[in-house]
Amino acid sequence: MSITLKASYFSAYTPETSSFHENSLIEVNDCGYITKIVHQATPEYNAHLTAAQQHDQLIILAPGHFLLPGFIDLHNHAPQWPQAGIALDRPLADWLNHYTFPLEARYKNLDFATLVYHDLITEMLANGTTTALYFGTIHNAANLRLAEICAQAGQRAFIGSVAMDNPQQTPDYYRDASAEIAVTKTQIFIQTIQDNYPSGLIQPVITPRFIPSCTTATLQRLGQLAKELQITVQTHCSESDWEHDYVRERFGHTDAEMLQSFGLLNQHAVLAHATQLTTEDQTIIKTEQSTIAHCPLSNAYFGNSVLPTRSLMDQGIQVGLGSDIAGGYTPSLYANLQQAVTVSQIRQDGIDDRLPAIERGVPNSRISVKRAFYLATVGGAAGLDIQAGAIEPGLLADFQVVKAPPHLMSLTPDEQLEQLLFRHTKQQIKAVYVQGKLVHEKEHNWYE
Ligand code: GUN
Ligand code: FE
Repeated sequence: MSITLKASYFSAYTPETSSFHENSLIEVNDCGYITKIVHQATPEYNAHLTAAQQHDQLIILAPGHFLLPGFIDLHNHAPQWPQAGIALDRPLADWLNHYTFPLEARYKNLDFATLVYHDLITEMLANGTTTALYFGTIHNAANLRLAEICAQAGQRAFIGSVAMDNPQQTPDYYRDASAEIAVTKTQIFIQTIQDNYPSGLIQPVITPRFIPSCTTATLQRLGQLAKELQITVQTHCSESDWEHDYVRERFGHTDAEMLQSFGLLNQHAVLAHATQLTTEDQTIIKTEQSTIAHCPLSNAYFGNSVLPTRSLMDQGIQVGLGSDIAGGYTPSLYANLQQAVTVSQIRQDGIDDRLPAIERGVPNSRISVKRAFYLATVGGAAGLDIQAGAIEPGLLADFQVVKAPPHLMSLTPDEQLEQLLFRHTKQQIKAVYVQGKLVHEKEHNWYE
């Protein structure tokens, strides 16, 4: 049955502008697409309201509640959820070898995978994340279980079976036994997901973990696969000085140059972190129309730098937002968009008080709250090429219903949006819709 929501909503429009409409009628069809939005001031408003009362399920948001687009997490390691918040004071290579790889190896056990993935997906939806791009593990059975759990919970998910076969950079107990196995396993996973989820709610992703953990043969063959299949590719790119230097030593080129040469960069590629890009790397990523997943919490621990988000976007490079569970300690994209704004300010002002102010930071680095909102919604949708990320006719009805903090003084719509995003707690997310279907509800008093 089609539904109509009567709601006040915010939606990012450009990086610096968002739209706000009060008490609009948002009509959603049986397939979960927004077919029409009727604004309060229009002559046909009352006729649509009456029709919705008679024919549709009409849902009227209670006062003080707003509709936002669901958030899109462009980088999340689902298996690392149990490790969230642990050992973030260790450098990346240490953290991977001593914490992450031993944990990911445990997903051979399907019971463990089921327990963790259930808990994570419930938590993601409760945080307003309606679509996520996930790294799984090397185990296809556990990756398929993650797909089942996302499908049952109703979250849109892009999932990758992780390829990692380089004996020099991966432990014996957690590695694909050969390039042949890494690639065949990827092909089988892609085919199974495409066969089992023809609706596209769950989609497969080509996932070389990062250059250090893959042999050249695997990178080349996954690049060929990316060219053939034209599906999403995800990997880590120039994350940390260690990783960036490792690739330059092994190949004499940067991550971006090598990923391009393997055929792994195209408009379907999502590159996590990218905190050490050269100017040439930026040009490559722009030319290939790939997307950067900005993971501002994780980057503070492992990135060794602050992403120049503003300058990348000004050059026309696509950027979205990622939680990087568990390099970032929370799946909340609210926390990540807050951090994106905060670190951009630090990048602009600089940190070394021994330098004069003029030399301390990087001018024009600051991003606005609106731009961070754009990253969490429109930016993510563009990276995954999905019809989502905004509240507009023709797009998927992926929403979160958020209760505003009590108003102690009157605010402009822009101020209201800033407060919704910055004075946020998970308790304020009352309901979440994916493709017109209610997938999370905190309590029943969010509608009239
Ligand atoms: N590089 C390779 N694997 C990982 C990972 O799991 N997390 C992060 N942050 N970086 C990586
Ligand atoms: Fe990561």
